[in-house]
Amino acid sequence: MTKKKAAILGSSGMIGQRFAQMLYDHPYFDVVALCASDRSNGRTLADVWKLSDVELCDELAGRRIQGTAVGDLAREGVEVVFSGLPSDVAGEVEDGCAEEGMAVFSNASSHRMDPDTPILVPEINHQHMEAIGIQRERRRKGGFVVNNANCSVTGLAVGLKPLVDAFGILDFNVATYQALSGAGYPGVPSVDIQGNILPYISKEEEKMNAEGRKILGSFGEGRFSNSPVSILASCTRVNVRDGHLEAVFAKGSDMPDESAVASAFEGFSSRPQELALPTAPEKPIIVRPEPDRPQPLLDSLAGSPDRARGMAVTVGRIRTSSDSLRFFLLVHNTIRGGAGGSVLNAELAHREGIL
Ligand SMILES: NC(=O)c1ccc[n+]([C@@H]2O[C@H](COP(=O)([O-])OP(=O)(O)OC[C@H]3O[C@@H](n4cnc5c(N)ncnc54)[C@H](OP(=O)(O)O)[C@@H]3O)[C@@H](O)[C@H]2O)c1
Repeated sequence: MTKKKAAILGSSGMIGQRFAQMLYDHPYFDVVALCASDRSNGRTLADVWKLSDVELCDELAGRRIQGTAVGDLAREGVEVVFSGLPSDVAGEVEDGCAEEGMAVFSNASSHRMDPDTPILVPEINHQHMEAIGIQRERRRKGGFVVNNANCSVTGLAVGLKPLVDAFGILDFNVATYQALSGAGYPGVPSVDIQGNILPYISKEEEKMNAEGRKILGSFGEGRFSNSPVSILASCTRVNVRDGHLEAVFAKGSDMPDESAVASAFEGFSSRPQELALPTAPEKPIIVRPEPDRPQPLLDSLAGSPDRARGMAVTVGRIRTSSDSLRFFLLVHNTIRGGAGGSVLNAELAHREGIL
């Protein structure tokens, strides 16, 4: 199979570096351009590398970063763009790439709530890719933008989907404990977070509900319809490197017992697993029976095969009563909740013949 020529935008950032790691030697995509701001122009990946869990191989280490110019990408024949740009920059650049006919898979929030842009989490809403057709019609050369969700929402939505489907639970409260890498690099100043917890992340709580409802909703007759699910969130930043932990609560009548909830999580599987996409985790949700799991340090990189490390969502401490349900959930924010999510979306689009 001929590989698609790909570019990474924001390649010097936390998400961009994950893209570089996850797209290395990829069976569908060949990264021909690493882009960032003019500040990074001419630097190598080794100069900017901050991922502590990945050994940078010589081939990647020496790759040079260039500035971000849509015209250059078009001239280089780039077909697929992976974007790790900040939201205040992403909108215009991603639109420019899509107008030039490129398929853009983005982490930025700029286009997430657009009426013809899917927030794709393929295990949940692969049918939302239908919206791409509408977007293509309005773009000059038929490109499109597909988003993945905010990092906390992605993990949460994967955890909620089996509960909504199997038990009809719709009202959720969630408290998050979000890692530092979620704030990009250099992120939160060390004096603000050392020995501390910050009980506010700008716009995060609103995104949890709005994006969650869109992701869990449907697409039909040319438009998205929100799910009736309600997500009431309290978000905090904690002194953890990678991995967002989330405490989920639901109240209601006739709640399922713990083993039924565990079975719903364990049995969850969808289109990416059916197609055995390269970055799809064999089990999208891993249930830990131990009383002290999941933990960011031990479970953030859950998921197999190797290419899907960090792509599984881990749940644990499932507790139910007749009128309540509680559990913890963990998602790797820069992998499943970031770059890995976009790579999985692009793999699905490729296999479904959309690229
Ligand atoms: N971190 C996460 O866990 C996470 C998860 C999901 C989604 N996201 C979203 O993903 C995006 C990237 O996040 P991040 O954490 O990787 O941020 P980051 O570490 O701050 O990286 C930002 C990247 O964008 C580049 N950039 C900044 N201004 C630019 C400009 N004017 N033109 C071209 N490139 C520019 C930076 O290049 P220089 O280094 O040259 O400045 C850098 O490569 C954001 O939209 C974020 O909200 C992040």
